[in-house]
Amino acid sequence: MPTNTILLAGRPVHRLGFGAMQLPGPGVFGPPTDRSIALAVLRQAVESGVDHIDTAQFYGPDVANELIHEALHPYPKELVLVSKVGAARDERGGWIPAQRPEELREGVESNLASLELDQVPVVNLRRLPETDVPFVEQLDTMNALRDEGLIGAVGLSNLAIDDYQTARSHTEVACVQNAYNLTGRTEQALFDACRADGVPFVPFFPLGSAFFPENPVLRSPAAQDTASRLGVTPAQVALAWLLAQAPTVLLIPGTSSLLHLEENLAARELVLDEEARVLLDQAAG
Ligand SMILES: NC(=O)c1ccc[n+]([C@@H]2O[C@H](COP(=O)([O-])OP(=O)(O)OC[C@H]3O[C@@H](n4cnc5c(N)ncnc54)[C@H](OP(=O)(O)O)[C@@H]3O)[C@@H](O)[C@H]2O)c1
Repeated sequence: MPTNTILLAGRPVHRLGFGAMQLPGPGVFGPPTDRSIALAVLRQAVESGVDHIDTAQFYGPDVANELIHEALHPYPKELVLVSKVGAARDERGGWIPAQRPEELREGVESNLASLELDQVPVVNLRRLPETDVPFVEQLDTMNALRDEGLIGAVGLSNLAIDDYQTARSHTEVACVQNAYNLTGRTEQALFDACRADGVPFVPFFPLGSAFFPENPVLRSPAAQDTASRLGVTPAQVALAWLLAQAPTVLLIPGTSSLLHLEENLAARELVLDEEARVLLDQAAG
């Protein structure tokens, strides 16, 4: 298997995929600003070799999945769609928990319907640390959904390292999705555990997120200086740095822009030299 690919739930995917969270309207709520561009971004991603798309029924809600369905169904056989359960939205776009076993099941069923799939290849349990639902009960539900064939594999998101160890003894963990980027490395211990175990680590907010307008990643002096020295962009530097951290890293940068999509995918080819690596390694905020 070439080094630019990784096995995700037993299927080879390129290490640079796509996150669909930027496709709905502002605040990940409501329709996209320009529907035709959102559809074009998805189609262009797949035409450019993306074979792993991260989504959620609660992006929109419903909007990201409906766009994916409209743009890409019937899906190419190599495309691995990954969704997540554990949250919902209120009428004003607020994020609300949906952590109970029956809500996790409903979440999977909604994804199956909107994506028109018999099985979602991977579903992440997006754990809310403050929930009073026992984690093991949630894992049992995810295992049951997998055993029934409604999901292909169980992934985990937003979890503490202790929960990761618990999960490893209760299920086969297909991937872990926590926040991690050039300047935000509070999840380093979890990152290292996944690397040691050979579990794909899928950092969310790889480019610093749309939620923080001051974007500490793209505005970091290390990313900006490296970008201008190498003649690339800070986003490409941030993505290349992540890819260089471990062969288990699998990226899903989010964008609503065709130009940014092209720019982000070009980071596959960027090799950071020693000077860049030293500078960037010291960039954690
Ligand atoms: N499990 C979880 O709890 C969780 C949480 C958050 C996200 N996620 C997943 O992780 C994916 C990635 O995270 P994210 O989308 O929140 O954040 P991100 O990828 O770190 O950043 C997205 C932001 O970066 C901008 N951007 C993208 N490419 C750029 C470029 N080349 N130059 C400058 N700006 C650029 C986007 O704006 P434009 O649209 O203008 O390009 C958007 O504002 C999501 O899409 C989602 O699938 C999961």
